[in-house]
Formats: sequence, structure tokens, C-alpha cells
Amino acid sequence: MIAKASGDESVTIETRATTPYDDQKPGTSGLRKKVPHFQQENYVENFVQAIFDVAPKEPSKTLIIGGDGRYFNREVVGRVVAMAAANDCERIVIGQGGILSTPAASNLIRKRNAFGGIILSASHNPGGPNEDFGIKFNTSNGGPAPENITNAIYERTKQISEYRIDPEVKADIDTIGETDLGHLVIEVIDPVADYAALMEELFDFDKIRNLFSSGFTMAFDAMHAVTGPYAHEILEKRLGAKEGTVRNGTPKEDFGGHHPDPNLVHAKALYDTMMKSDGPDFGAASDGDGDRNLIIGKGIYVAPSDSLAVLAANATHAKAYTDGLKGVARSMPTSAAADRVAEKLGLPHYETPTGWKFFGNLLDEGYVTICGEESAGTGADHVREKDGLWAVLLWLAILASRQQSVREIVEQHWLEFGRNYFARHDFEEIDKSVAETFMSDLRAMLPQLGGKTAEGFQVQSATDFAYKDPIDGSITEHQGIRIRFEDGSRVVFRLSGTGTVGATLRVYLERFEPGSEGLDRDVAEMLEPLIEAVDALVGYRRAIGRMEPDVIT
Ligand code: G6P
Ligand code: ZN
Repeated sequence: MIAKASGDESVTIETRATTPYDDQKPGTSGLRKKVPHFQQENYVENFVQAIFDVAPKEPSKTLIIGGDGRYFNREVVGRVVAMAAANDCERIVIGQGGILSTPAASNLIRKRNAFGGIILSASHNPGGPNEDFGIKFNTSNGGPAPENITNAIYERTKQISEYRIDPEVKADIDTIGETDLGHLVIEVIDPVADYAALMEELFDFDKIRNLFSSGFTMAFDAMHAVTGPYAHEILEKRLGAKEGTVRNGTPKEDFGGHHPDPNLVHAKALYDTMMKSDGPDFGAASDGDGDRNLIIGKGIYVAPSDSLAVLAANATHAKAYTDGLKGVARSMPTSAAADRVAEKLGLPHYETPTGWKFFGNLLDEGYVTICGEESAGTGADHVREKDGLWAVLLWLAILASRQQSVREIVEQHWLEFGRNYFARHDFEEIDKSVAETFMSDLRAMLPQLGGKTAEGFQVQSATDFAYKDPIDGSITEHQGIRIRFEDGSRVVFRLSGTGTVGATLRVYLERFEPGSEGLDRDVAEMLEPLIEAVDALVGYRRAIGRMEPDVIT
């Protein structure tokens, strides 16, 4: 399966000269660019060599490699393997076909005590020859590399003058098996098996199987992305959901021409199915690399911030969490719904900057069990990435245990904890300098905003969010501007860290309704006055020259 003969000790490492690029700074989640950008000479090699130069090879010299199967995935897997062979790796573990969902890769890093993993994905962004690609390095805890490492990788890319490769090492990534090259063992594994086994440890599969055999129906949209094979195996094969439960279950390099982004825009077909009175009982979707989730009940969409809160409040229904949670964390722009649950249960809760990597220390130190973000990510301490199918299985475990519909569970939740009406407005592809000017003008305006009133909303505080990690003390600044109002409403302004074209301004809107009245209002109607108020105060629509957002989630 490898061009070199098995046991061949001859090493044919080449050191090749290269010149640096100045734009290889990893964003919220690794290095993301358009495919043609990655296809520039040595663009991939420089970044991968920088990872090898910076990453400590501890606790072992094992590296995990896999990606979401998008266009260019196979090509880059081949290059990473040949470079790993020349960079002091002793074992490489690759998902068959170059496939590994992000949570599955995180699990393998931990299970195999690897020093890290190289994950090839641009998450929910579209794929294809002119679309997006990404390279991300995860460290030995299984999580995205923290900022000190991503900054060191970036610094290295600015100085790089050579990279190492063993061009003779060519793995046949389609055939499961192990090849021993003497200095290096290459293992191609089933990408699903270890992950499915982990899920069986966390959840009572018999109980969920009984739910399905009692006639419960589900639609899971894999969006032609990486979760197809995982969902077929776990939902249909192991849990007995009927065939056809998994839709768009064959991964495609271009995701069938769609954005593999599980939201109401890109998973509209699933949404429409779920709104039918004779539709399935439960609907869910995941993104390109399998770490995000979308949850829809019959006739009811569950916003990610609400889903996090419901999962936290009900986690004890699932086998892994019967003893309760250690704590809950959410990213700052995520609604405070989960805080209300934590407060009621007497659990510690944390507010971190956007980006899963900020949960890593909290999970490693056992401060929290469950984390979540408004950007459709929920996860727990079983891996160090958010995990789409895990969230779906936790919902199924709760549904199986409570024997109620999604609507009943969510409505009872609001009655008990109140409802945080929430939406995110995205203004995409704004001119970068226009967006940056708006943010710095807004920052300058903050000291004058306190106490001001517009449209009946009075500003309580206006701050630029900075985070001090409670474990390592590191400080991360400028993570979003928060404007809080006296009635508990909040608006956050933040520039996306994952886009590949221009800048995306995200405006996060939240209003709290304690109940027991006013829990079933229309979200957009509820938030409209808040939009008018904040626009009157900071004039964001005029500043960016846009009246309407491109996407509302
Ligand atoms: C990635 C990260 C998430 C984060 C999201 C936000 O998906 O894994 O943790 O919430 O990006 O992206 P943004 O575009 O808002 O920076
Ligand atoms: Zn993703």
C-alpha cells in the first residue's frame, strides 16, 4: 500500500528551498483560504512545515491525519503524509479515504496519545475548485491549538526557508491496514469505528433503539458532508432508525454545490420537512466537518443557544452525565439561556471568546462538562471539539427518557427558566476597511454610550470584551463589543474570524422574557425594537452601508 517496500529502512528525505508567504495567520479555526490560494507554490508545504517546526512531539510521535473530504482533501493528505515522514513522526494514523470528522479526529488524538492532528477542513464553508479549504492543527489534548501555538506557527511561516519531505512515501489511503516502513508506521483506519464506540460508551443505545422501534421518526441531513457515513452507521445501523433517515449521506467534494452549513438558510429543505404536520418527530443536520449541529422538532426550530440550555438542564437523562455536570461554558455572543440553567442547578458557568479552543483549558481542568456556542456548536468533555452527532444523540437520549416531544421539552424549559429571544444578523463581504473602521469608531464611542437611551432602551454598559483564562491567566482582548441595556437586553458587534472574502460583521441580538407570559412571540418581531434602538445609538447600518443582513440565524 506504500510505494516503498515494507520494512525498507532507506529514507529519502529531501530538504527543499521555499520562500515565505505573509498571510498564513490562522483565524478562529485554522488557516482558511480559497483552494486556488492554497494551490500556490509551496503554500501548503510552508504551513505544514511550520506546524512540524513548532509542535512539540509529546507525548508520542504519532500524528492523526484526516479531513472532511472536500475538494483538495486527498491531495493535501498525500503531501502531509510525505512531509510527516520527513519530520520525525513515527506513526501516522489516517482515516480511510482521507476522511475524519473533526470530533472523530479529536477522539483519535486522545485515544492514540498522539502529539496532535492535522485536520483538513473549512467547516461549513462551500467546497470545490474555487471554493474554500482549510488546514488546522490540533494539539495532544485533541483540541484546536491554543493561541500561543497558532501565533508561533504564524511567526514561523514568515521566516520559513525550507521544508522537508520524503517524496517516496505515498500512502494508499483507500485501503485499511498498517504498513511498517521501519522508521515510520502508516495506519489507514475505518474513520467511523472508534467514534461510534465512544458514542456507545456515552449513551444508552438500547434506550434510544427502543425509542425508534416504538415508531419515533427522524430526518438527519448530512448535507453531502462528512457525517454521512457516521450517521448511517450510528443512527440507522446501530440505533435502528429506518433506512432513509439519513439524507444527503454520501460525502461529495463540492457538497453537492451547497454550503454544508446547518442553518435555516442552507438546511431549508430539512426545515420545510420538519414544519409539515405529518413530518418526522425529530430533525437534525451537521456541517462539512461534523462538529456543528442543527436541531428542529416537529414544527419548532431550536436555536443553538436554547439547545445548549436544554441539553445542560437535561443532561442527567443520558448515561454519561447521570451524576450531573461539573459546569457549563458558552461563548460570549451566545445567549445567557445556559447561565440561567447553571444558576438554578448551582453550577459554575463561564463566558469565553468565540472559538472552541477557549473551552480547552476549562474542559482539561474539569471546570466544565458541557460547552456551546450560538454558531451551532455544542460539545462536552469526551473530546476537545464541538460534536454534531454527539449533540443529536444527547437530544435523542433525552427524548427517549422524557417521552415528550421536542416542542413540549422546549416550551417547558422556557416556562421554567424564561426565554432568551436571540438572533444573529450577518452582513457579509463588507469592504474590510469599512468594517474595521466601524469597529474602531464604535470602540471609541463606548465611554459615551453608558446611560444613553434610544427607543425606550437605556444603555447599562458598553464594553469591549476581553477574556482572562482562569487556568493559564492568558488574556485575549477585543473579542466583541457588548452593549447591555437596563431591561436585560444585549447587542454584540463582532467581526467574523472565519471568512475568506472581505469582512463579515455579526450583530448578535438578545432580549429576555422571564415568563410566564410572552414566551411564544415571534423572534424577529421581538428583536425589531432592539435593532432600531441600537442603530439609533451607534448607526451601524449607515456606517456599513447596508440596511438588511445577508443571513439571519
Ligand atoms: C468556528 C469555530 C467556532 C466558532 C466559529 C465562529 O466554527 O470552530 O468555535 O464559533 O468558527 O466563527 P466566526 O466566523 O464567527 O469567527
Ligand atoms: Zn465545522
